[in-house]
Amino acid sequence: MKAGFLQFSPVFGDIKHNIETVSRILTSVNNGLIVLPELFNTGYQFIARHEAEALSEEIPSGYTTQRLIELSKNRSVYISAGIAERDGNNLYNSAVLTGPEGFIGAYRKTHLFFEEKLWFSPGDTGFKVWQTPIGNIGMMICFDWFFPESARTLALQGADIIAHPSNLVLPYCPDAMVTRCIENRLFAITANRTGREKRGEKDAMEFIGCSEIVAPNGKILSRAAKDAETIIQAEINIDDARNKSLNPLNNIFSDRRESLYRS
Ligand code: ACM
Repeated sequence: MKAGFLQFSPVFGDIKHNIETVSRILTSVNNGLIVLPELFNTGYQFIARHEAEALSEEIPSGYTTQRLIELSKNRSVYISAGIAERDGNNLYNSAVLTGPEGFIGAYRKTHLFFEEKLWFSPGDTGFKVWQTPIGNIGMMICFDWFFPESARTLALQGADIIAHPSNLVLPYCPDAMVTRCIENRLFAITANRTGREKRGEKDAMEFIGCSEIVAPNGKILSRAAKDAETIIQAEINIDDARNKSLNPLNNIFSDRRESLYRS
């Protein structure tokens, strides 16, 4: 099975343009999984809550999720993608999972980064894993990586692959995800964006690219450049994520000493 990422530079506020870009690049893919960046349809640097409100959409009835469903069907591909969600008066930094069968599920970002806290509510879905014909897929969003509990919770729920839509600005994540994969023995696909945003009086934000596919043994199967628009899928064997034994005497799940851990 093939799984990978689409890395590009969204144009702030131009949802239709960003979806057309994704749709154009996706014509080279015809199966497996593709992860898109966090807030891929809206861009990242909001300067007022009303902007985030105007650009957010209901899930799954909104325009972006409906277009992703259509793309999943047309390309026979599972898509994990970050979008701004509106639910009543609340806004969430969310990710949707769609497949050839339609809408599968949504996750709301648990750990909000910096000014996201001004626009979005903290996610209330918890970490979820969906069983699909291509494997068990869990999602976390960007800064969630900083909290090892995120990946661990997904692993304990049976995730084979963590789809990780991101808008990374700090340099640590691509290397840190190697450890997340080794300690949980699963695949992770971090889809980051490229480019720069400078809106209003705010400081410019530079996104670090370097999207990657990491295997359960920590091997980086593919890592993109900092700036390039890139779509890459690697051939992965889901069974590699289902063996949690390091040797006949060590199993990373059954060796856990929960009574000695603090929550
Ligand atoms: C981030 O969570 N977008 C850094």
